[in-house]
Amino acid sequence: MSGFQVSSGLIRREPVGNTGGKVRLDYRRFGVVGGKHVTALPEYNMASRTVKSLHDVLMAGTDSLLKDGTVTMTGWKIDSPYRAEAELDQIIQVAAELRSKIDDFISIGIGGSFLGNKATIEAILGSLELFNLLGPEQRGGIPRIFFLGNHMDPGYTARVLEIIAGRRVGVNVISKSGGTVEPAIAFAILKECMENGFTDHASRIVAVTDKAKGALKKLSDEIGYAAFEVPDNVGGRYSVTSPVGLFGLAVAGIDIKRFIAGARFAEEETRKRPIVSNIAMLRAVMRYVAYTKMGIKIEVAATGTYDLKGVAAWMQQLGPESEGKDDKGIWISPEFYTQDAHANSQMIQMGERNIMETFLMLEESGTDVVIPGRGTPVEYLDGRTLSFANRAFVEGLRDAHYAGGVPTMSYILPALNAFTLGQLYQYEMNAIALSALLLEQNPFIQPGVQQYKRVADAKSGKPGTESYALELGRDEQKLNPNLIA
Ligand code: PA5
Repeated sequence: MSGFQVSSGLIRREPVGNTGGKVRLDYRRFGVVGGKHVTALPEYNMASRTVKSLHDVLMAGTDSLLKDGTVTMTGWKIDSPYRAEAELDQIIQVAAELRSKIDDFISIGIGGSFLGNKATIEAILGSLELFNLLGPEQRGGIPRIFFLGNHMDPGYTARVLEIIAGRRVGVNVISKSGGTVEPAIAFAILKECMENGFTDHASRIVAVTDKAKGALKKLSDEIGYAAFEVPDNVGGRYSVTSPVGLFGLAVAGIDIKRFIAGARFAEEETRKRPIVSNIAMLRAVMRYVAYTKMGIKIEVAATGTYDLKGVAAWMQQLGPESEGKDDKGIWISPEFYTQDAHANSQMIQMGERNIMETFLMLEESGTDVVIPGRGTPVEYLDGRTLSFANRAFVEGLRDAHYAGGVPTMSYILPALNAFTLGQLYQYEMNAIALSALLLEQNPFIQPGVQQYKRVADAKSGKPGTESYALELGRDEQKLNPNLIA
């Protein structure tokens, strides 16, 4: 016998809830230094009264802090969880048609038009770096899935193009504005390759963009791509439950009706629960008190589950882009344990006490690997499983950090499926919107992001930016040339 052998019984797979389960929040360890729980602080009581009325403000949708221009940006709360079945059926049908004729699916988008999509697909199908290595049968009819347009790295882009060359490809291009440069460049490249490769290229490309305006909408109408609409009242980072997220999930074979049912369930819970059991409000209030009274400036979004790294990355966008205005806001830093414990845990444990930590804890993954420890340095773990060891270490990090003065809380996911993911997003979008409102910030605008785009446009020669480009050149001349070592 030659070749690597996986001993029988080494890998264990057990069916776990594929469709249900409720997400919970464990906030027992959200303590202040000295061991007092946050709920014992007078500031907590005050903020929990305020958060209720801010939720009423969110529901009413009239306050200027909810608007981008004239549009109230609460479609993710008011409309998305109540999306009509017929609309979902249409997305499922177009996705199934595309899936039936492709081997590889390329999703193009950036920011909110990328992160939720990738996070959900990886949480449910498993990390794509491994999923894409599986054969067609192991993938169960799901195409390999790649993301482009979320950066402009030529090496990565060239490699993806070479990997998919000669194969049956489908493309989903997502941009609410229709003009964001990174996805526009990626789409220009893919469009040319699709037109060279397929006579039916138009039917292999699906656009998700504004219903009426923007360059992508114009192009899509001209060429005749199928198109789904990003609602006016849904901003990028709140769009995972809109067609922005839904089309890609449907191509990946994920049950988008259960996903929306999960979002709806969490939305109803947020609307009706008292604060003591209201996940979104609790999180908003605890973050606010941590920021204003406990010196917290950074929230680590930590997980020991590889397939949840993308959700932590989605949280990294949602919080800071929603709150980071007027010199305020909590920075969110995703951490994957135990890998990152060997890099950052020292700082979290003993550095400046300005960090809180939110864990994404998975109860059942359904897959386990037995540790054959006999005769090795981990003999004491012989016959135990990886999930046993992983849990011990991730809980160990949580408890040690808490003992070291880090307020921690945990989202508990009973299983990874469309229903639990839909809940998690809806809770977190509510929590962050309320958290930003507590800081008197509009969660739905991102004026700071426009600033770097203005500079980048001028540097990359966008028409209309000529005089600003000259100004930037003059500023560069003023820099001291002796300050390059
Ligand atoms: O949250 C946001 O609004 C942003 O991250 C956007 O999603 C991102 O800039 C992409 O924008 P667009 O979909 O218009 O290309």
